[in-house]
Amino acid sequence: MTVRSLGFAIPIPCTMREIGYGAVPRKYDKGEIMGNWLKEMSVILIILGVIVILPSCGDKMDPIAEFDDSGLPDQVTYGENIQTLIEQNCTMCHAQSIQGADRQGAPVGVDLDTFQRAVEWAERSNIRIQAGTMPPAGGLSSYERSLFQKWIDQDLQE
Ligand code: HEC
Repeated sequence: MTVRSLGFAIPIPCTMREIGYGAVPRKYDKGEIMGNWLKEMSVILIILGVIVILPSCGDKMDPIAEFDDSGLPDQVTYGENIQTLIEQNCTMCHAQSIQGADRQGAPVGVDLDTFQRAVEWAERSNIRIQAGTMPPAGGLSSYERSLFQKWIDQDLQE
């Protein structure tokens, strides 16, 4: 089956009804040729549409592209914003003063109870915070996650 109306032969998959016409040469009237042409063009348009739409779906999956800092402080600092967030959500497990079973499995040495230690673990903490896997039970709001992201983006101000 070919696209006759275009004046050259391109093999194109077609409907079962059209296959029936293939064997016996017959005259196509103008309306029928236009109908086939429209069908063929719509298939091409759908394929082009998928090629154009798929990459833009990919953008939406990217958390950085979605990051919205409206409502956040202009300057995020450890003293003003992050210390409280960590004390309310992390140091019950991740502090040097918490030992043994009280750490609830938090690895020894992964402590967040001073500015220096919070900075040392900031990148790993942010990955886990943005993934929603720290604290293990979840519970950080999207505002708190954005706050931590902005602290990182502004180079961990004290
Ligand atoms: C209930 C205890 C608990 C709380 C609260 C908690 N964690 Fe954890 N954390 C763990 C445990 C258990 C592990 C080790 C298992 C794992 O990695 O999932 C861990 C591991 C980590 C690690 C090292 C693992 C890695 O991916 O490098 C970091 C960093 C971390 N937590 C950051 C945080 C931050 C930041 C918070 C607060 C927002 C927090 N945690 C709150 C228990 C806790």
